[in-house]
Amino acid sequence: MKTSLGAVTLAFPLPAFLVGSYDANGRANIMTAAWGGIASSDPPCLSVSIRPSRWSYAAILANRAFTVSIPDSRLAAAADYAGLVSGRDHDKFAQAGLTAVRAEKVNAPYVGESPVAIECELYKTLDLGAHTLFVGRIVDVKAEEGLIKSGGGLDMAGVDPIVFNSGGDYHRVGESVGQAFAIGKSFKSPK
Ligand SMILES: Cc1cc2nc3c(=O)[nH]c(=O)nc-3n(C[C@H](O)[C@H](O)[C@H](O)COP(=O)(O)O)c2cc1C
Repeated sequence: MKTSLGAVTLAFPLPAFLVGSYDANGRANIMTAAWGGIASSDPPCLSVSIRPSRWSYAAILANRAFTVSIPDSRLAAAADYAGLVSGRDHDKFAQAGLTAVRAEKVNAPYVGESPVAIECELYKTLDLGAHTLFVGRIVDVKAEEGLIKSGGGLDMAGVDPIVFNSGGDYHRVGESVGQAFAIGKSFKSPK
């Protein structure tokens, strides 16, 4: 038995992306964005939905660039802080004790303490109403050396990313329940 919750913006779980940009004065800023994810494989794209009222909004449009840093569990409070105050009147990097690292390939900063950072150039925007969808073309991904698996993927336990429980709290990711593109094969009918 399921209960209808109506037309609410509930998907589960959500990321807690730290979106980095330089404002018009060249100051590094981050904002938390839960509404985002990978949007295309080729070109490799990632999207974040941002309200026009955010300080980051004009900054990303002006530089046509942003980064996404993925916070680990140690950065949960900093990630929350980045979503509570605005870069309009706060230096969130300094106040949260974070290091702003200039991205190598785009004009935006990322969080040095974050295990993974994604560099994006603004590719497309789509005004959806309350939010504008920013689609970034991924030009590079930076990950701590020790977290890269031999096959090229990332060691999830090592990254220790946090996810956002819509409207609630932040969580760690639990244990693996099976190999992707493999465990489903058990349902394939024999040839
Ligand atoms: C967990 C969490 C998720 C958030 N997700 C979004 C989001 O996806 N889009 C958005 O526009 N604001 C989102 N916010 C709010 C912004 O992060 C917040 O308004 C922030 O102060 C904007 O910073 P800025 O003005 O420096 O750009 C979120 C806040 C939190 C705490």
